[in-house]
Amino acid sequence: MKKRTYKFSNSSTDYYLAYGISHLKELVDQRNSVIITDENVFGYHEKRFKNWNVIVIMPGEEYKIQSTVDAVIEELVAVQADRKTTLIGVGGGVVTDITGYAASIYMRGINFGFVPTTLLSMVDASIGGKNGIDVGVYKNLVGTVRQPSFILHDLIFLNSLPQAEWVNGFAEIIKHACIKDAAMFRDLEAGSLKKYQGRKISVCKLIQRNAILKTKVVQQDEFEKGGRRLLNFGHTLGHALENQYELSHGQAISIGMAYASVISEKITGFKEADRVARLLLKYNLPTFTQFDKQKVFDVLKMDKKRERKVINYVLLEKIGRGVVEAIPLDRLEKIFQDL
Ligand SMILES: NC(=O)c1ccc[n+]([C@@H]2O[C@H](COP(=O)([O-])OP(=O)(O)OC[C@H]3O[C@@H](n4cnc5c(N)ncnc54)[C@H](O)[C@@H]3O)[C@@H](O)[C@H]2O)c1
Ligand SMILES: [Zn+2]
Repeated sequence: MKKRTYKFSNSSTDYYLAYGISHLKELVDQRNSVIITDENVFGYHEKRFKNWNVIVIMPGEEYKIQSTVDAVIEELVAVQADRKTTLIGVGGGVVTDITGYAASIYMRGINFGFVPTTLLSMVDASIGGKNGIDVGVYKNLVGTVRQPSFILHDLIFLNSLPQAEWVNGFAEIIKHACIKDAAMFRDLEAGSLKKYQGRKISVCKLIQRNAILKTKVVQQDEFEKGGRRLLNFGHTLGHALENQYELSHGQAISIGMAYASVISEKITGFKEADRVARLLLKYNLPTFTQFDKQKVFDVLKMDKKRERKVINYVLLEKIGRGVVEAIPLDRLEKIFQDL
């Protein structure tokens, strides 16, 4: 597989898709690089980290916090990392978000690259340059926007990925199909989780298609003034649900996408909310569930995407074409009550 380079506003990123982590040493100076990974990835794939400096953090969203970053920085000082050191995040979105953030602030910014190891981080979290940490209940409250210098995919990592994490990844893939890629939507309808898991080639193609789709959206709007907002499809309601119920991110945004499709029927004249729901169900994702509408609406009102009395809600005009609609809060509240 060859290298492809994508340019952003003031940097560029080399993509090595379907490579092999053994090639990592050709991309960076191994003696002056530090890998950050988590206990799960390290536990399953220890042999792949041989001869590398490695910092192993605790796994899970609850460790995507400043104290983990502080511990990483202390270890970087201990191994005498300098301005020429490259940090490499090998893991899911938690690891890549922390790595990008630590690299952005250590010595006011050093080089970093990613080897995403979850489906979700391959198609979503590792792309686009947003990095950072959670503060209390506020997800991704603190961080920077800075692109990695490279992204390398090695699909061997997916061999150890738990089923629930596959499903989380497919939620973002279906999101991409809904907002930008009707042909991929049809492919997904024809496929299934089992089929993709059983066929390396088709999953590899699907991952690349999604990684490039997100990259192009980000290239056109790196600092989220317009088109990048489409990537929030399902996320406005999804985040509000995720805060209050025991749901994974994929489940929460799946419910968010199902309802956003219904709201689209009321506002844009979209006609295929059923079809979106059927696809989500096919990939073991939830759609319409009972929730406390008032309580969830109260949280949703506080969303980062709110601007005064209006929420920018991502809706569909048709499959493969998302739009951002500014909906006044009082109108949205009414729509919610009628759902
Ligand atoms: N920066 C962005 O643009 C962006 C976009 C989307 C999501 N995110 C962030 O990404 C995070 C979610 O990413 P995620 O779903 O990858 O979560 P994660 O990093 O928590 O990984 C999920 C679980 O899988 C484990 N794991 C990772 N790779 C594995 C492998 N190959 N085999 C076995 N287990 C493995 C992890 O230890 C963890 O328990 C969230 O913090 C979210 O905010 C960031
Ligand atoms: Zn998401």
